[in-house]
Amino acid sequence: MKIDHVHLVFLLLLTLITTGCESEKIEKFDTGNLPENISFNNDIKPIFENQCKSCHFGGTSPNLSPSEAYLNLTSGGYLNVEKPEESEFYVIITTGNMAQYATDSDRAYILKWIKQGASDN
Ligand code: HEC
Repeated sequence: MKIDHVHLVFLLLLTLITTGCESEKIEKFDTGNLPENISFNNDIKPIFENQCKSCHFGGTSPNLSPSEAYLNLTSGGYLNVEKPEESEFYVIITTGNMAQYATDSDRAYILKWIKQGASDN
């Protein structure tokens, strides 16, 4: 089969469109699979280590490195345990500038942690 120019352009467009959609695919994450109790040390700090370290471990504020994260999140007024969904921290990583760096799983863990009182546990 001979592929002419029109077909080539069409194939190229198709590839662009499908790969474009690929990156915007909404992640499926089952929030029912979260542990019963979320631990800041074991569940939340690793998120910062994996997703945020390159910028927030001493560079850009807030500093989310293991020894600094809890203090900076609480003293920075980022958390609202009365209305967890309205916590500035949750909003920033969900619909704000930092949403691109967090996964659905990260967001679910962080929201549940805030709902449970945002302890340094
Ligand atoms: C590539 C670098 C980079 C990564 C990775 C990154 N951030 Fe950021 N972050 C920034 C920059 C730059 C700003 C300040 C400008 C802005 O708000 O866009 C910022 C701002 C913030 C703020 C708001 C600070 C304020 O008080 O206005 C929070 C909270 C935050 N980041 C959390 C996170 C979390 C949580 C992660 C990981 C899930 C993350 N960031 C990943 C670069 C990054």
